[in-house]
Amino acid sequence: MHSEPFKLKEVQAIPQRAPFERWNTLKAHRFNISQVPTEEVTFEMVVRGPSSWSQFQKAGFMVGDEAYAGARSYYTLEAAVRALFGVEAIVPTHNGVGAEKLLATVLVKPGGVVLHNRGADSPLVIAHGGECLDVTAGHDSATAGPKSFRGDLDLSALAALLERHGDRVAYVHVDLCPEGSGGRPVSIENLSRVRELTRARGVPLVIDLSDVSAVAWWNGRDATPKLDLVTAMAQLAGYGDILLMDASRAPRADVGGFVAALDPNLHEEIRSQVVVFEGLHTYGGMTGRAMEVFALGIEELAKPEMEDWHQTQLGVFHELLVAAGVPAVRGARGVMLDVTSFLGHLPPEEHPKFTLAAAVYLLAGARAPIEGSFARHLTAPAAAELVLELPRFAFTRDHLAQVATDIGALWQRREEIAGLKLVNEPEFVDEARFAPARERLLALDPRGECRPVEPSEPWKIAVFEPLKVTDKAYRREAMVEAGYNTFLLRSEDVYLDLLTDSGTTAMSSRQWEGMTATTDTPFANRHARELEDTVRSVLGFEHVIPTHQGRAAEHIMSQVMIRPGQLVPGNMYFTTTKLHQEMAGGVFVDIIVDDAHDPTSTFRFKGNLDCAKLQAEIERVGADNIAYISAECCVNLAGGQPLSMANLRDLATLCQRHEIPIMFDATRAVENAHFIKQEEPGYAHRTVRSILTEMMSYGDGCTISCKKDFLVNMGGILACNDAALATRFRRMLRVWEGELGNGGLDNKDIVALSRGLLESVEDDYIRARIDQTQILGQKLIRAGIPIVLPPGSHAIFLDARRFLPHIDQDEFPAQALAAAIYIETGVRTMERGNVSKGRCPKTGENYRPKLELVRCTISRRVYTNDHMDFVVEGLKRLYERRESISGLRFSHEPKVLRFFQGRFEPLMSWDL
Ligand code: F0G
Repeated sequence: MHSEPFKLKEVQAIPQRAPFERWNTLKAHRFNISQVPTEEVTFEMVVRGPSSWSQFQKAGFMVGDEAYAGARSYYTLEAAVRALFGVEAIVPTHNGVGAEKLLATVLVKPGGVVLHNRGADSPLVIAHGGECLDVTAGHDSATAGPKSFRGDLDLSALAALLERHGDRVAYVHVDLCPEGSGGRPVSIENLSRVRELTRARGVPLVIDLSDVSAVAWWNGRDATPKLDLVTAMAQLAGYGDILLMDASRAPRADVGGFVAALDPNLHEEIRSQVVVFEGLHTYGGMTGRAMEVFALGIEELAKPEMEDWHQTQLGVFHELLVAAGVPAVRGARGVMLDVTSFLGHLPPEEHPKFTLAAAVYLLAGARAPIEGSFARHLTAPAAAELVLELPRFAFTRDHLAQVATDIGALWQRREEIAGLKLVNEPEFVDEARFAPARERLLALDPRGECRPVEPSEPWKIAVFEPLKVTDKAYRREAMVEAGYNTFLLRSEDVYLDLLTDSGTTAMSSRQWEGMTATTDTPFANRHARELEDTVRSVLGFEHVIPTHQGRAAEHIMSQVMIRPGQLVPGNMYFTTTKLHQEMAGGVFVDIIVDDAHDPTSTFRFKGNLDCAKLQAEIERVGADNIAYISAECCVNLAGGQPLSMANLRDLATLCQRHEIPIMFDATRAVENAHFIKQEEPGYAHRTVRSILTEMMSYGDGCTISCKKDFLVNMGGILACNDAALATRFRRMLRVWEGELGNGGLDNKDIVALSRGLLESVEDDYIRARIDQTQILGQKLIRAGIPIVLPPGSHAIFLDARRFLPHIDQDEFPAQALAAAIYIETGVRTMERGNVSKGRCPKTGENYRPKLELVRCTISRRVYTNDHMDFVVEGLKRLYERRESISGLRFSHEPKVLRFFQGRFEPLMSWDL
């Protein structure tokens, strides 16, 4: 799998800061990166916390049972642990420390000994008067990767210590993935031998399962016969007499833990301590919701594709660093930077590790986790390694590329890096205060570069939605069942859904936050007022009327503004827009520039309205017989093609002269504004928001399907400047849509819309959005795959005629191509050609439109560029085998809108 086995459900903004801003932050926090406030950190390179939730975990968060005793969530958690690890009962704790506390309390007596592989002594064992002895084997081979299982215990040392300390040994504590080098896994082989030794001595073996899936993955990978992930996890857990887990690691919960002893008496003893220290035996210091999130996280460990992805991504990050020349070692949980190679020129008293951490923050915006006892980080091995953990499923390849590139730049300048001197005597890392040993840590570019070298998405993944990964045999059958019509597929059988960009957005944490705090009343409410203010301030229209989606606004506008028989000139058309114009008695005339109809023309503003064509219409019918101009931004059916500001200016001049209103379809106006910023002279320095405001200033009103650019799943807007017109709109709204205050929208969606609108006009967001489409388009062009040129805003349109030249248009090449893409890749696209256009009622023949296209539409903030590369690779494979696709014939042809429900069969069987 080379792309995520999930799509994005919720994203959270991450700050981009210029190095000089980070310098000021470091100065304010005494150059101790553990003190830098999180809102100043772009990349939190730590698993605990920043890892993302699945949507089921988020749902679990809302359904936790907060009963004091016997909570349902506790039984759910216990069942999840039982199913995966085979233990009968658990003792819940507030986190991993809580689990260890119960263990130490019961098992460690003064003078007792704990043998371990954890890299650091346990303060809890010491607090109970015990002693810790580290028996890790692999300290000396710090540069080897996880395949060498450097978490393994030194078996002869273990045997000798067990012999020497006899009954004083309280237990042997094996962390399956102890700290250091980004996580060093333990091998099943070693664990089985440890188990033999402990059993022979009657000493309990404690296994920390917090990273069990990563360790199982490394064990299963090269085993013969191959070990699947679930079996490997069960084997690892099966060696333990006592199991414990911190919920914040592999299960991606924020808090929580458990301990479980197989011996019923011991279990009972541990359980009796839970009321003293943690809570009750059925919640152990966790909320019900935390137990739900934890339980789901454990269940999700059993999905091998998830761990596969995490490890693949770690491999990619490691390779990127190595390619940039950086001395980095791959671990099972993160990547280790070799401090000695990096900063060999600094003496130990200038704290190279802390210096490197500060420098990595300064140039890359990344925070490496350094914590615990300060002294530990001054001596080997901890002093020589700076670990960047990889949060689970939170970052994209582009995020990691940005970090790796910036650390690569730091590596190039390593000799300029000056050290830090300590100015206090800290016991713990977070207490340390430093000052630069010389004037500056690193001389920064005096211009203070504000842009990263390789800018990535301005958000991280907060919540993901798992996707079903299917094989070709499965998809062949699903396609037959769907009658070779992608509309009839079940979305759960789809890997990447490129059917539409409408209502499919991943909302941000800020939008979700607003949705949980609404006042849900049908009457005048603050949310609708806030929306009006926001729309007014961004688009500039005086009167703002919410509707439930775009076509509702189109209906009202058309009915109010069109007199039967009037013309409505527009730049191409969208289906619902044209339908409502016609229902109101209007006649649509296409005045888009000719370039728009030529898929090979590379003119950038193919969405422009042709003023000469409009002039001709005015002369033909008279201005009075033109209802308004319908001006769509980033014209959908032309391939997401923008119009230019110059064109709008010309249009406005002409229309003002003849008193013809201009009504925008501003559904994709933000994307249009970005193209103007990028491509039109004079706009590069302007914000997208101000460009959008200027665009709208040339019009008199607009309809918007907010389900596209404005980053919501539902919503529409109707707006205008004329008060009398607005009154007529509102009168109709009451009858056709719902309350005046909300236009039939849920107040929660109104809040999401206000916030989505503001997020959509942030330059960094819209840049990442359009870049994604442009990069996809460029890669397809380079691969020789025929697409509509130039790549547009929200979609790439494949030219099915040129993709499948051997299929006649009456055998529906675009329909066949969409079906074949699904079978080959699991990606769902949409036919826009002969099937959609239908039959001529007079002749009964198919219309055979000029454009025979397949639309690959990109949802906003939902897919990563790894997903897009998956699309490119799949299309390349299919293009090479295009001869094996034959045309289709209808097996069922509906009378109206046949593309939705129509069923087909291939003329010859496909060899895909
Ligand atoms: N205008 C344009 C340009 C559209 O693309 C759409 C919908 C609408 C209006 C209608 O708005 O769906 O909110 O009622 N386009 C979707 C698509 C359906 O897949 O392109 P709605």
